[in-house]
Amino acid sequence: MNQALWRVTYEYLAARLPLPEWAFMNYGYTAVAPDTDSLELTASDEADRFCIQLYERVAGAVDLRGSDVLEVGSGRGGGASYMKRYLGPATVVGADLSRRAVRLCNRYRAIPGLRFVQGDALALPFPEGSFDAVVNVESSHCYPSMDAFLVEVHRVLRPGGHFLFADFRSGEKVRRLRDELARCPLDVVDEEVITANVVAALERDSDRKLRLIRQIVPRWLQSRFARFAAIEGSQTHEGFLAGRTQYQRFVLRKPA
Ligand SMILES: C[S@@+](CC[C@H](N)C(=O)[O-])C[C@H]1O[C@@H](n2cnc3c(N)ncnc32)[C@H](O)[C@@H]1O
Repeated sequence: MNQALWRVTYEYLAARLPLPEWAFMNYGYTAVAPDTDSLELTASDEADRFCIQLYERVAGAVDLRGSDVLEVGSGRGGGASYMKRYLGPATVVGADLSRRAVRLCNRYRAIPGLRFVQGDALALPFPEGSFDAVVNVESSHCYPSMDAFLVEVHRVLRPGGHFLFADFRSGEKVRRLRDELARCPLDVVDEEVITANVVAALERDSDRKLRLIRQIVPRWLQSRFARFAAIEGSQTHEGFLAGRTQYQRFVLRKPA
């Protein structure tokens, strides 16, 4: 899909399904061995455990206490809200291309130190050196240029700041992503393939997601949604199992 189609899709979802309880749009993360997740969550966050654990894995890689954090591609705001409430940053700004999603987030999730702005990953609306960390979860596959995005991340980070990043790619784009990160002006300090953890989360969360889809999505759109959400048995889920699609996590650092 191109950028315009992604934009229409996410604007449509925010307009048609403005439900505060739908807070995440990622595939999730869990320990591969069942029943070994140990992240402590409040009862009201339990339903989103797998999606939150992906944020914990990505953003929890460095100590964010007292820092200024930007999330690019903040979606329905659940991840930015989790980071602000659990990881101790001074401020979190969520930026997303979808104007309607940003409006929903400011209505339902804004708390002191957490706000949302409309913005394009390729032209971030912030001055140079504004943030200690940039977080980006399952959004970059929508961007027309990863190189241009990485230039923007480098620009808005302070020296020594971190880029905390995770996303999936298929086929030859798996290797291309590693090349893009290797040639960008940030240093790769950690990387990890987390496909098995994402697949385990997809499988353990499939029933809940299917129930939610049946409750909130018009019948004619339900099968498309199941594919979009990578429900067990969907083409996307099969792609992960067959190794055609890989989910990776990276930590990069702007040289001091
Ligand atoms: C799959 S959702 C993930 C949302 C969120 N990170 C999460 O994990 O729940 C991808 C998000 O990226 C946003 N997005 C796509 N292209 C973008 C761009 N060029 N700039 C900023 N956000 C973008 C979409 O609007 C959407 O909210």
